[in-house]
Amino acid sequence: MTNLNSEDIDAICRLVDDLCGIYWDESKAYLIEARLGSLLEKSSCKNYRDLASKVRAECVPGLRSEVIDAVTTNETLWFRDSSPFQALKYKIVPELIDAKQSTCFPKRFRIWCAACSTGQEPYSIAMTLADTIPHIESWDVQILGTDISPAAVERASRGIYNKMEIGRGMDPESLKRYFVDRGDGWQVHDRIRSMCMFKPLNLHEPFHMLGSFDIVFCRNVAIYFTLPDQKKLFAKIGEVLAPGGWVFVGSSESLSHLGPQWQTEQHCRSNCYRFNKHILVGT
Ligand SMILES: C[S@@+](CC[C@H](N)C(=O)[O-])C[C@H]1O[C@@H](n2cnc3c(N)ncnc32)[C@H](O)[C@@H]1O
Repeated sequence: MTNLNSEDIDAICRLVDDLCGIYWDESKAYLIEARLGSLLEKSSCKNYRDLASKVRAECVPGLRSEVIDAVTTNETLWFRDSSPFQALKYKIVPELIDAKQSTCFPKRFRIWCAACSTGQEPYSIAMTLADTIPHIESWDVQILGTDISPAAVERASRGIYNKMEIGRGMDPESLKRYFVDRGDGWQVHDRIRSMCMFKPLNLHEPFHMLGSFDIVFCRNVAIYFTLPDQKKLFAKIGEVLAPGGWVFVGSSESLSHLGPQWQTEQHCRSNCYRFNKHILVGT
């Protein structure tokens, strides 16, 4: 039983904003109890203000990561919304292959999955590439999966999924082709895993050092941010996008309100975006 008053709510909302840039207000009081209640007891904090102070003081090892893991929503599934993967297969990958013929690195793909949760999205991308490009092993493909949740990144790196997780979008044919039965779950096959690498990253921090990407998936994460933070995030994504690169957002998300630099294309019923940095926008 906890005593959640307006000071507790305020302390946790500010903490969640500072740690993850996730916008919570008093309407999320139920989430505070549901997500952080057990952590409050486990860490012997007197109340939520105390929990917030301990996280800020970094006096309890691991508490900060546990709070981040608890407040983030890691909902994901294989081939989520299907149409972006169809667009990859039938339009974007073939077009990129052509466009790269005349470059110094004609067989190199760099893809970033900017909030990859437990890995289903980057592995779905890798499986789509393996289905689309013959002899994919002779290509230099790197799919970077990042997420703020250390627990999610750890699970993504292991690439082992239980029956319920496999049941969410994985078709039997791909299961047979791309997984190894480990008894206690199915592990993504090494030839798919070798295309993917994972690391923790907060999207509110600088990420220009990640390099440049042909395709960025940034789906179902910006919905948790304020509009000014969304604008900053996609401006930074525009900077790491290779010329002619593509961005995918979630099926309920759009970039059209971010200005004329973001140009929408529709392929296989999926909206994808290209960034034109030469279009000047007013400030
Ligand atoms: C709903 S999941 C979406 C996963 C996947 N992109 C998809 O569409 O299936 C949102 C993910 O965003 C991550 N996230 C939330 N805030 C973040 C931040 N500031 N930086 C990076 N990742 C963040 C969460 O940890 C969570 O795994």
